[in-house]
Amino acid sequence: ALRRAANIHWQHLDVDRTARARIKGQQPRVLWFTGLSGAGKSTIANLVDKQLHAQGFHTFILDGDNVRHGLNRDLGFTDEDRVENIRRVAEVAKLMADAGLIVLVSFISPFRAERRMARELFAPGEFLEVHVDTPLAEAERRDAKGLYAKARAGQIRNFTGIDSPYEAPEAAELVLDTVSQTPEQLAAVVVARVLEE
Ligand code: PPS
Repeated sequence: ALRRAANIHWQHLDVDRTARARIKGQQPRVLWFTGLSGAGKSTIANLVDKQLHAQGFHTFILDGDNVRHGLNRDLGFTDEDRVENIRRVAEVAKLMADAGLIVLVSFISPFRAERRMARELFAPGEFLEVHVDTPLAEAERRDAKGLYAKARAGQIRNFTGIDSPYEAPEAAELVLDTVSQTPEQLAAVVVARVLEE
């Protein structure tokens, strides 16, 4: 359970998020990429980031592998640690959206409840859940990092899709089929969706 400090009050800030975003000429957004390990989340998020950046948008990527090297280096892959991992990154995404940014979040984020908690931090329309919907068999066949082989051999415990659950989204704003389309095609779909909002 989380410990909460006592006697903490919310400090009102006079420059609000709308004002911060306005000087950037953009609306804050969170693009929340979820999917199995090796689904292609980071690859697609990187392509989306590059395209939005090239069009002059101020973006930032929060990527699981990277955030786990710093802010979340105290966390492993038990259910409890994944919950805390996602809680922290959702709060960081919120700070970045408050700063006016378009934030790309790329974490397995396997649990529906934590993705819902993340969504609820944002105004309607600000949060787009992007399901990188690669079937387990396909992610395992690709096994770009060799982690599935290790998990099958019992060298990694609590591996998503093997001995730790992945709860697929039921109502993601975007569902990306990485079997029939290339990362470039899928990135274009995401960018188009962001620009139409
Ligand atoms: S989570 O579930 O959202 O907290 O995971 P995340 O922070 O995105 O970290 C996933 C990356 O960590 C590596 N890794 C594992 N993934 C799943 N299960 C286990 N046990 C595990 N151990 C290490 C793996 O490289 C994941 O990267 P991606 O990019 O998703 O393949």
